Amino acid sequence: MARFILNETSYFGAGSRENLSTEIAKRGYNKAFIVADKDLIKFGIVDLVTNVLGDFPYAIFSDFKANPTVANVKAGVEAYKQSEADFIIAIGGGSAIDTAKAVAIIINNPEFGDVVSLEGVADTKKKCVDIIALPTTAGTAAEVTINYVITDEDSGRKMVCVDPNDIPVLAIVDADLMATMPAGLTAATGMDALTHAIEGYITKGAWELSNILEINAIKIISDNLRNATFNGSDMYAREQMALGQYVAGMAFSNVGLGCVHSMAHPLGARFDIAHGVANALLLPIVMEFNMVACESKYCRIAKAMGVNISGMTEKEGAYAAVEAVKQLSKDLGIPQTLREIGIPEEALEQLANDAYNDVCTGGNPREITEADILELYKKAY
Ligand SMILES: NC(=O)c1ccc[n+]([C@@H]2O[C@H](COP(=O)([O-])OP(=O)(O)OC[C@H]3O[C@@H](n4cnc5c(N)ncnc54)[C@H](O)[C@@H]3O)[C@@H](O)[C@H]2O)c1
Ligand SMILES: [Fe+2]
Repeated sequence: MARFILNETSYFGAGSRENLSTEIAKRGYNKAFIVADKDLIKFGIVDLVTNVLGDFPYAIFSDFKANPTVANVKAGVEAYKQSEADFIIAIGGGSAIDTAKAVAIIINNPEFGDVVSLEGVADTKKKCVDIIALPTTAGTAAEVTINYVITDEDSGRKMVCVDPNDIPVLAIVDADLMATMPAGLTAATGMDALTHAIEGYITKGAWELSNILEINAIKIISDNLRNATFNGSDMYAREQMALGQYVAGMAFSNVGLGCVHSMAHPLGARFDIAHGVANALLLPIVMEFNMVACESKYCRIAKAMGVNISGMTEKEGAYAAVEAVKQLSKDLGIPQTLREIGIPEEALEQLANDAYNDVCTGGNPREITEADILELYKKAY
């Protein structure tokens, strides 16, 4: 028996934000609460959306950081209450959409107003305020997932929150909104999407439907991420990345992830490392650890990434997948060690403890101890 939850309606394709006004009219909303970070306002990406709204009233909330915090969410809740809006438009990467999800949940479930009680699987009773999500990165797929990630500044930990009540009613996956991403951001967020696809493919809860989606997401992403990164105006590659990250999200949201994400979260929470960079750096190292538990799946990953594995043993084919991931990450210019990104060696033990207690650890395909995780961090150092 398996459960599968997706957002209600999605539009795809460059220019699909044009559907926003008809959808708003059809749904009878009166005023929008736009959640978008300051950079997106500065780069004119928010304008691309508000231009479609015409004279429809809205308030904007942008008082939150990348890797959003509990305090950011509380500020958002207060701003929403004062705005007299009746739905949310989230424009941005995972940070904006996750902030919107947490605010939208608390507005309709005020008993979770402390935010921290939302960690894990919270027993909220009501659906969140309606969210229309317009992703501007091709990475987290937060527009289709039942997850959001908020940093608790007090404990220094990222809280992964899993709640079907948070899912957006409408996702508009418009690659025009992603075209302004610089190369480094395209690469990092794309590697986050690839990590979702690979971890979602090998996670303990994976099954036929999620496998169909993840193996195709791996192919779409690995076929297009180099072009999207190095030729940012290649709209075919941008659209494919927009699709690939969404497909990865459809599945991982329902089956879980693994230790790459458990180990990436503390790097974001304690050192503000971009989520995609943390994942990209750790992915081949954790894949190598997990290899004994998923050799035949790794062979299929290698094939999906364009490696010819005919004539190889299963072990060689599996290893080829790890090599293909490593090569992609290197080609994209992503840092390859924790030392390079400024993590102090003394922090590794604390990071290992955080990662071991992360919600995603339970989904790792191979049993793993805190000591194993520490070894993996040392290897990444
Ligand atoms: N909800 C989920 O299922 C899920 C999954 C994975 C990660 N996450 C979380 O999402 C967050 C990361 O999200 P992200 O990787 O999308 O990045 P982000 O939202 O943190 O954005 C990073 C930076 O990129 C900028 N940016 C975004 N789109 C841009 C564009 N089109 N052009 C130029 N600049 C742009 C933003 O302004 C910001 O400064 C983390 O907190 C992570 O833990 C959530
Ligand atoms: Fe992620």
